[in-house]
Amino acid sequence: MTSSAHENRRDMTRDGIQGCPDDCREDGARGAGAGVVVTFAGAGNLARAQEMAARLHAPLSEHPEPDALALRLDDEGLALVGDGMELRGDLSEMLPRLRPDRLSRELLVRAARIKASALAGRAPLAVDATAGLGTDSLLLAAAGFEVTMLERDPVIAALLADALERAAGVPELAGAVGRMRLVEGDSVAALGDLGFVPDVVYLDPMFPQRRKSAAVKKKFQLLHRLERPCGERDQEELLRAALAASPRKVVIKRPAKGPLLAGAKPSYSIAGKAARYDCIVPATAGQGAE
Ligand SMILES: C[S@@+](CC[C@H](N)C(=O)[O-])C[C@H]1O[C@@H](n2cnc3c(N)ncnc32)[C@H](O)[C@@H]1O
Repeated sequence: MTSSAHENRRDMTRDGIQGCPDDCREDGARGAGAGVVVTFAGAGNLARAQEMAARLHAPLSEHPEPDALALRLDDEGLALVGDGMELRGDLSEMLPRLRPDRLSRELLVRAARIKASALAGRAPLAVDATAGLGTDSLLLAAAGFEVTMLERDPVIAALLADALERAAGVPELAGAVGRMRLVEGDSVAALGDLGFVPDVVYLDPMFPQRRKSAAVKKKFQLLHRLERPCGERDQEELLRAALAASPRKVVIKRPAKGPLLAGAKPSYSIAGKAARYDCIVPATAGQGAE
């Protein structure tokens, strides 16, 4: 990213979950942590909760209403709680999928692969423009990509920063986490200001039908109270920004039978039972996008 972009966005990997200037917010009208209450467990976490509430412009409450969506600081870190459920970013849940025999068969890893001959010995560079809780980014990082993660929702970005911090202390994850960098901000702007040319841009925006799908694990429905589904205009803007970053390919995750993102026909797709990865190889891309 250029220095001007850095002034407007926050590199959360470097700064942890502290501070974020107002102008890096995704949606000024909605407010940073709109609808979220910050709470804490144990007096020892009060100061961090106060900081988080100030940063998100969210109210602080020791005892939020039972139906409230709350971001709770506790001794384990940060959790999103509500409706009797709790969601914490936990990258160690991914460990079984990172075993080399399984990792190379992951559809995302196959879809994102870049020929070694195109890289001249350097690591492949990916931008995950819809980072969420970072599980897909972790797959890419474990497969050797240097991953820049962009996330526009400040509450989700805070949960991801917390997950990364804890994962960095897990020996089996530390190497991959060291290749992951989180930037809070909107990808439509950030992709135009990366300061490097990525090999792959990855898009996994939430589609309207995913919001209430029975297939969505119950605790992830908490997250969907924060996310806005990606409407037609958002899809077009996101894809245009991804292509404008001049990657060798754009990889788009879709439900197996879901419609194309912004109606864009892929160069090829890799499909599984639940998901499909549409790969767009721009005509101008150099060699190497398999
Ligand atoms: C379906 S989730 C992605 C899940 C992710 N692939 C994972 O492995 O956890 C979509 C995420 O993209 C974020 N998002 C959507 N549009 C965005 C944009 N234009 N810029 C940055 N983040 C965006 C949403 O806030 C949400 O967290």
